[in-house]
Amino acid sequence: MQFEFGIPSQVSFGAGSAKKIGEVLKGIQAKKVLCVYDQGVKQAGIVEHVLAYLKESNIEAVEFSKVVPNPPDTILEEGANLAKKEEVDAIVAVGGGSPIDAAKAINILVTNPGPIHQYEGVNLVINPTKPLIAIPTTAGTGSEVTGVTVITDTTGDKKMVIAGRHCGADVALLDPELTVALPPAVTAATGMDALTHAIESYVSKFSSVPTEVNALKAIELIANNLEEAYNNGSNIEARTNMLLGSLLAGYAFNSSFLGLVHGIAHPLSVYCGLPHGIANASTLPYVMAFNAEEPSVQKRFKDIAIAMEINVAGLSDAEASDKTIDAIKVLSEKVNIPTLSEAGVQREQFEVLAEATLKEEISIVANPKAVTKEDVLAILEIAFVGEDIKKGNLV
Ligand SMILES: NC(=O)c1ccc[n+]([C@@H]2O[C@H](COP(=O)([O-])OP(=O)(O)OC[C@H]3O[C@@H](n4cnc5c(N)ncnc54)[C@H](O)[C@@H]3O)[C@@H](O)[C@H]2O)c1
Ligand SMILES: [Zn+2]
Repeated sequence: MQFEFGIPSQVSFGAGSAKKIGEVLKGIQAKKVLCVYDQGVKQAGIVEHVLAYLKESNIEAVEFSKVVPNPPDTILEEGANLAKKEEVDAIVAVGGGSPIDAAKAINILVTNPGPIHQYEGVNLVINPTKPLIAIPTTAGTGSEVTGVTVITDTTGDKKMVIAGRHCGADVALLDPELTVALPPAVTAATGMDALTHAIESYVSKFSSVPTEVNALKAIELIANNLEEAYNNGSNIEARTNMLLGSLLAGYAFNSSFLGLVHGIAHPLSVYCGLPHGIANASTLPYVMAFNAEEPSVQKRFKDIAIAMEINVAGLSDAEASDKTIDAIKVLSEKVNIPTLSEAGVQREQFEVLAEATLKEEISIVANPKAVTKEDVLAILEIAFVGEDIKKGNLV
């Protein structure tokens, strides 16, 4: 057996853990930080609290608030120049995957020359970065613990994945209380993203035992708590389990890469403006049905059924796999995941989306089944109308 497995971040998890920010920064002698966030997180009142914790610890905060969802390359130089001009000692990211990824990319550009595009790929960042503390406010991406930053390349019309050395947060403070104000639609989208991470990493060609253990526990937590977090956002137990699930899914996929769902999702965000979680969730069951044509994947989906507490006793791998896919579709419906047509995607865009998907090299290589353009077009078509899944009707 051989595998690579690693996580860049020290984790502090639990209610109130965001308050540890001052203590963490004092521990590394930081006196001034760049605080990176977006307007939604500010409006939710979360930034205010973090700034207050910093003030209590006599740490000066320089604010950078220009992050938007699916963060574009165009905002990064400004953030990095601000950090350099103000001579900050560390960076604090507050928000979902978008502010955390933007902060990671800004951090790279503080100590490495731009443009950011030259670091697309794995282990291409040379110089060590400043300490980065991530405080996630969505239960979704796992970016707080992954050595990955995803930035929209506005010149190349694609999402760049920059991964490996110097691409992670040093410390992640996971405080479920910060996710209580997440609106239901964002809870659904980000939760389905985390579920997709767990499922894709479990069937990835690069999966290993540590990935599998984390993925299955993440699937159990998310499958049992997403609907409750969606319907009753103030249920702190459901929020805690969702944040834990997204964390473990981050552990799972950081060393295994993802798969075709993410390969299709990135172009859906770039060309159709879909939020990352919706882009994943809208094709997840159909990509699963496509991958389940491989017998080895059917066996893996049976394991996922057991993690989801679906009764598959006495069923063949193929039958259990069908049940798993149906359960994912039912969960998506319960949290109102739209079809691609409902999400505003146009059929005329399918060609461009399919071409772009095949260029998502890391996702295509990690996917357990080889993919052609026709396969992607068939998956887009079924996700567009949201037809019932019938095994074998995708090829
Ligand atoms: N680096 C990684 O490992 C990794 C993994 C998966 C996805 N991603 C990337 O992360 C990005 C998506 O991140 P995301 O899904 O967390 O969404 P997001 O960060 O884009 O946030 C979505 C919306 O929710 C709002 N929001 C966030 N927290 C809130 C809260 N607590 N209360 C109220 N509103 C809140 C934000 O303001 C924003 O409007 C994409 O660019 C995706 O490609 C990165
Ligand atoms: Zn994702």
